[in-house]
Amino acid sequence: MKTILITGGAGFIGSHMVRFMLNKYPDYRIINLDSLTYAGNLENLRDVEDKLNYSFIKADINDADAIQKVFDDHDINGVIHLAAESHVDRSISNPTEFIHTNIVGTVNLLNAARHHWKDNYEGRLFYHVSTDEVYGSLGDTGLFTETTAYDPRSPYSASKASSDHLVRAWYHTFKLPVIISNCSNNYGGYQFPEKLIPLIIYNIKHNKPLPIYGKGENVRDWLYVVDHASAIDRIFHKGCIGETYNIGGNNEWKNIDLVKLLCKIMDDRLGRPEGTSEKLITFVTDRAGHDLRYAIDSGKLQSELGWEPSLEFSEGLEKTVDWYLANEEWLNNVTSGDYQKYYDKMYSSR
Ligand code: NAD
Ligand code: DAU
Repeated sequence: MKTILITGGAGFIGSHMVRFMLNKYPDYRIINLDSLTYAGNLENLRDVEDKLNYSFIKADINDADAIQKVFDDHDINGVIHLAAESHVDRSISNPTEFIHTNIVGTVNLLNAARHHWKDNYEGRLFYHVSTDEVYGSLGDTGLFTETTAYDPRSPYSASKASSDHLVRAWYHTFKLPVIISNCSNNYGGYQFPEKLIPLIIYNIKHNKPLPIYGKGENVRDWLYVVDHASAIDRIFHKGCIGETYNIGGNNEWKNIDLVKLLCKIMDDRLGRPEGTSEKLITFVTDRAGHDLRYAIDSGKLQSELGWEPSLEFSEGLEKTVDWYLANEEWLNNVTSGDYQKYYDKMYSSR
């Protein structure tokens, strides 16, 4: 039996990862470690929480002793590390938290794995989930490959780049078995409505302005979150130790075009005349240091490990809209508390 520690399993991608592993590997023991920040929510896992091979531990990766105890008590042999502060805008208003969790928290996990495994690395793996933002910003052409030089621009991406370097340092210096993947923008159900797609869906539903940073010309490559989970699974089981794999959807969209598409789908779903939601589009002050374009070459993952995304974007996006409309209670719950206060403060300053 394998015991896999998934950090950040109560968050957006983490909850899909936990569900994916529980469904595919009933003989694995899956431990979800999460401190339940504003972005973590155990409601994301209601459908799988009763499985006997699943357990949840509330712990903060900044707490080195607590993390070491989890490794020692549960004899962890694989780690899929997703816990992080993940929102670029928050990293601009409060960078320090990103340094603690994303950098120091990652080092605490690396140390705990190394000390628990005591140089006996057979059948062990530390998998670090990272972002394409570490590569910086592209112009109109070109793609990020695994050998693109790191050039992070935001406190978030700098903290993730730093954690990637530290993971590699533990591999080279201590021979800790590690793998890193760098993925593009994910979308799907259970994403906190501060990220573009769920925010736009939420605001359309509530007839609120749809904030577009700058001119909406920035480009992102979107991947359905379950396809990210399937890529991580493939790399976790078949990838080469010490390697990096890029994961992407080969699916570039200018923000403004994506928001207009969402408006169209929402008008249809809500039975509103076409063009109603687009009227809510509001151009606001640009994000500081806003990266122009991300685009991923995931050729290595496709050719070496045979992975490819399963879902067309149009299908994935409609599925996602339908998910948020069907899960009103979830949306209401995660937007109760400080959400509105944070959101109003954030947008009144733009
Ligand atoms: P998220 O913000 O939805 O979830 C993060 C989770 O980590 C939450 O459950 C939160 O409670 C937990 N967490 C935060 N700080 C913690 C701490 N100190 N100790 C323990 N748990 C803590 O993030 P996400 O979008 O699901 O991203 C998950 C990972 O994937 C991150 O490492 C992110 O950098 C990476 N990533 C995200 C995307 C994307 O498009 N969302 C793309 C590529 C990579
Ligand atoms: O590329 C991977 C990264 O994608 C992940 O590492 C991050 O964790 C994740 O948050 C995401 O970062 P982005 O900054 O690209 O995602 P976000 O949803 O915040 O923004 C997407 C684009 O939309 C970006 O160009 C900014 C713009 N935007 C965003 C918001 C929230 C707007 O125009 N208006 C908005 O209100």
